[in-house]
Amino acid sequence: MIAISTWNFGLPANKVAWEIIAQNGTALDAVEHGVRHCEADPEVRSVGYGGLPDKSGIVTLDACIMDHYGNCGSVAYVKDIKHPITLARRVMERTNHVMLVGEGASQFAESQGINREFLLTDDARTRWKQWKKKQEFSEINWENHDTICMLAMDSTGLLAGASTTSGIAWKMHGRVGDSPIIGAGLYVDGSVGAAAATGRGESVMKMCGSFLIVEYMRNGATAQQACIMAAKRLAQQQKDWSEYQVGFIALDIHGNYGAFSLKDGFQYALSTPEGHKLCDAQYLETP
Ligand code: GLY
Repeated sequence: MIAISTWNFGLPANKVAWEIIAQNGTALDAVEHGVRHCEADPEVRSVGYGGLPDKSGIVTLDACIMDHYGNCGSVAYVKDIKHPITLARRVMERTNHVMLVGEGASQFAESQGINREFLLTDDARTRWKQWKKKQEFSEINWENHDTICMLAMDSTGLLAGASTTSGIAWKMHGRVGDSPIIGAGLYVDGSVGAAAATGRGESVMKMCGSFLIVEYMRNGATAQQACIMAAKRLAQQQKDWSEYQVGFIALDIHGNYGAFSLKDGFQYALSTPEGHKLCDAQYLETP
């Protein structure tokens, strides 16, 4: 059993996930409920309730979930649903589709008994108003803030992954990042392993980052090697890579994990039978 997730807010999320897998619950339940903890925390300003809004002051959320067997569900540009990860799971389990966006996703949520909620907190509104005075766009993500992604393996050896975010603060209205895109922000293949990405979504989308890591593992790379190879691939493909942060995490079907980022500062939370800890990822280069 193992759970790995992104950033320092991954630590309390991992503890929730661990309670589930330690009691022989499924990896799928673990990742959903783990990241739900983060979505509900108003102090986390890049995920769920309390997330910072787009440039027009509207909070829009993206999320996806994927299981060991390749089943997946995703929602994007959702304005009024506190737990987009649960909505993504409903898309996976209760529709014939993979992805719902915007108002259609919210209507589906209502049909599932999930109420709409106003997501912009007073604190986020105050920060947005301060930002509006200068309107400087802060490129993600030198600080400790971004998507929570979680990968887990349960006691039966099954894998699952989840990803959820409010995206880049002050983004253009309608912008969607990598987090709800299967293969970019998250990918799980039960015969190989799982991977997820955090940081500047546009850069991850351009290289199908999570899918690429799983394919590297399929071809013999360890989880750590695969994360490093993906970061190098990104840096080779995108000449402006020194101007932003991207971090990857990976988990193979034997429970080996990896984490690597472009820049210093990326942390990941790791939970094993030995306990929970926050770790500093290795990185490609200091800008
Ligand atoms: N990685 C999150 C985003 O770019 O929206």
